[in-house]
Amino acid sequence: MSPSTAPRADQDTRSLHRWFPPHWRDHELLDSGNGARLERFGEIVLIRPEPHAIWDKGLAESDWRRLAAAEFVPTGRTKGNWVPHQSVPDNWIIQYPLRPDHELHFSLEFTKFKHVGIFPEQAANWAWIAERMKPGKRMLNLFAYTGGASLAGRAAGAEVTHVDAIKQVVTWTRMNQELSGLDGIRWCVEDALKFVEREGRRANTYDLIVMDPPAWGLGPKGEKWKLEDQVGRLIRAAALLTAPGGALVMNTYSGMSPSSLENLWRAVLPEARIHAGELCLESGTGQVLPTGSLLRLERP
Ligand SMILES: C[S@@+](CC[C@H](N)C(=O)[O-])C[C@H]1O[C@@H](n2cnc3c(N)ncnc32)[C@H](O)[C@@H]1O
Repeated sequence: MSPSTAPRADQDTRSLHRWFPPHWRDHELLDSGNGARLERFGEIVLIRPEPHAIWDKGLAESDWRRLAAAEFVPTGRTKGNWVPHQSVPDNWIIQYPLRPDHELHFSLEFTKFKHVGIFPEQAANWAWIAERMKPGKRMLNLFAYTGGASLAGRAAGAEVTHVDAIKQVVTWTRMNQELSGLDGIRWCVEDALKFVEREGRRANTYDLIVMDPPAWGLGPKGEKWKLEDQVGRLIRAAALLTAPGGALVMNTYSGMSPSSLENLWRAVLPEARIHAGELCLESGTGQVLPTGSLLRLERP
């Protein structure tokens, strides 16, 4: 290659994407900074720890105190307590307008893990899922939590299988299904890796797979999930389940970079079209908060 045609070291045509959730009315990131985020879920404004927010807050400390109804105060690496600043309900419901004729409904509550039952940035995937799914299509949602992606797929008419290790979380998603006027999701309380490997042995395939593996977790029978040790096995098994012409969304909040995700998938499905990047939220004060890494893949 002559020096004039060689790509310059600072040029990379495989640029990383940034995805933002569109259409939210019931969620808003008001501000972030100094290790925290200030966000509104419906009428309720909350302060939560946010290790990515290493910049200064955009709003004054007094505004954060005035607006927040409750704040999560960690007591350890993952757990903590919600401290109310105003009176707050035990649970409340928010809506997401998936399509003009269909809203998804989510029941929220204060958990001891700083979450309230929704990862609002995931809405960036829901319209993409709904566009690809229709009656007769098969979708698999792994590590599915309270089921935003499952509801989006089911609202579009797909046959949806929802897999999560925690029975109470699946019960929570059943409530979201009902609140959203949907039915028919197939529920599996199971270790996600066991599930995909068994489906592979049965030669089952899916038109869309969605997965959001955590850094660590436990299956319902105590199966240990550790992302860095098992991600290769999960990806190989999920690749076998992705139908030709099908698609896959992989997200992780574990700190794994988008380029690492892309390398893992290119090794197993070299012919697939892959986009990797960051899943982000934009605050009212103009910061872009990266929340996790995201990869979308389409098989020819
Ligand atoms: C980060 S959350 C997923 C959030 C989801 N993407 C959403 O939008 O709501 C991770 C989920 O993985 C589940 N989980 C952890 N270990 C698991 C395992 N071994 N098998 C299946 N699910 C597991 C947890 O119960 C939790 O619901």
